[in-house]
Amino acid sequence: MQQKNQGPVHIAAIGLGWWGRKIVAALDGEEATVKVVCGVDPDPSAAVFCEGRFPMLESYEAALARDDVEAVVLATPHALHEKQIELAVDAGKHVFCEKPLAMTKKGAERAVRLCRDAGLVLGMGHERRFEPPVADMLVAAQEGRLGRIVQVEANFSHDKFLSLAASNWRLNAEQAPAAGMTATGIHLTDLAVRLMGPARDVRVACENLASEFPQGDTLSAHIRFENGGTAYVSASLATPFVSRFAVFGTKGWMDIRDKAHVESPSGWVVTSSSAGQAITVSEVGPAEPVRDNLVAFARAIRGQSYAITGEEMIDNIALLEAIIRAARTGQVETVA
Ligand SMILES: NC(=O)c1ccc[n+]([C@@H]2O[C@H](COP(=O)([O-])OP(=O)(O)OC[C@H]3O[C@@H](n4cnc5c(N)ncnc54)[C@H](O)[C@@H]3O)[C@@H](O)[C@H]2O)c1
Repeated sequence: MQQKNQGPVHIAAIGLGWWGRKIVAALDGEEATVKVVCGVDPDPSAAVFCEGRFPMLESYEAALARDDVEAVVLATPHALHEKQIELAVDAGKHVFCEKPLAMTKKGAERAVRLCRDAGLVLGMGHERRFEPPVADMLVAAQEGRLGRIVQVEANFSHDKFLSLAASNWRLNAEQAPAAGMTATGIHLTDLAVRLMGPARDVRVACENLASEFPQGDTLSAHIRFENGGTAYVSASLATPFVSRFAVFGTKGWMDIRDKAHVESPSGWVVTSSSAGQAITVSEVGPAEPVRDNLVAFARAIRGQSYAITGEEMIDNIALLEAIIRAARTGQVETVA
């Protein structure tokens, strides 16, 4: 059995569809820090992907039973996350969970509490935190260089799901509600909550404009925060890829645009201004934030701190829950 507290963190990759495969591919060459030792996915095509990389096991329980597995990486449909986290904690495994952590605030609180009480690290698939210009923006905000943050404006949309079969879980209104919210918008609210703290209430427009998606294809949310300030967040599943995050403060603002989807990053364009200064436009070269998030998770298991706190995870899911409700009611919904 592997010695704890040294060497690469050995993980089981659970769910090897679109994103699970992206994660495995992103970790190629990182074996000194984090190494995939087995995988689980009931879909036979996943076994083909894993051939020559690592063994496929017959069940999640089989992965949890292995002594050489220290952590699980969950890239499974949203509805499975809560139970899979509970089982991982019971087996003493650290957890990296793809977003969303849970569909309700109560579920998120439970997941965070279970991991914390067991002394296990909980990582989240919010790789946008690890995009170099976003990381710089968060540091600038933290150090007060943007002044008082007053607004966020953000859009993360794509049309990748228009070609999915209607039976896909992504197009199920219960499993993936509120248009693009659980696919893309949740990355934006993660950053908004990090910058502005817990949300107070939200109004949502969720429409079906270009598809038969039962949960709608185009969403915009207007969020007010407990400490003042607002965020306007859009997530459409019916327009070609766009990803833009802008934050406005009393001393400066930054607007970060991805040149490509994080699946194949190709850099960023950053437009910014400080009070009294000219507006500047700069280019940031490609990076691999999905890998860097997993590496940070592995380092957290080895004792370093991890960028996303449990409180931020809970605040984001509390906001998600209110957004899902507001998408259905069309009313201003209070965040629990
Ligand atoms: N961080 C990101 O940017 C990002 C991007 C895409 C997807 N995701 C997240 O990743 C997760 C998966 O999304 P996806 O697009 O890869 O979906 P997907 O449908 O392509 O893949 C999900 C996989 O899970 C497998 N699966 C189902 N039940 C399972 C079980 N009990 N045990 C093991 N595997 C099981 C399925 O067979 C499938 O291969 C979602 O939570 C999604 O939000 C994150």
